[in-house]
Amino acid sequence: MAPVPRVLEARGLDVTPGMIARLRGMGDLRTVEIPETILREEVAHVAAGSRWYRWYCERDGIEPRARFRELLHEYAGGYLHGPFNVEARLLAGFDEDELAALEAGAAR
Ligand SMILES: [Fe+2]
Repeated sequence: MAPVPRVLEARGLDVTPGMIARLRGMGDLRTVEIPETILREEVAHVAAGSRWYRWYCERDGIEPRARFRELLHEYAGGYLHGPFNVEARLLAGFDEDELAALEAGAAR
């Protein structure tokens, strides 16, 4: 429940702005609308994952931040690749402390 939206889909939040910038730099303003739409929709996908992840943790009495770190070790080698799209991740249900922890452990 957590790794797909909060790791894989959240990676899309991080990398899509760079794609948008490259397309814009090439002057392809028509095509740039596609990743802009994907980015907007991906925020909602990750937010849904965050909401359900927290619901599940609360239901089962699990501390969500510690469990997310465990899941990162189990499924993603313990760290994520940065840089992170902080604005989009905040909109998608990550909190400031989680993002600070991800930044501290991020691979560049
Ligand atoms: Fe998605």
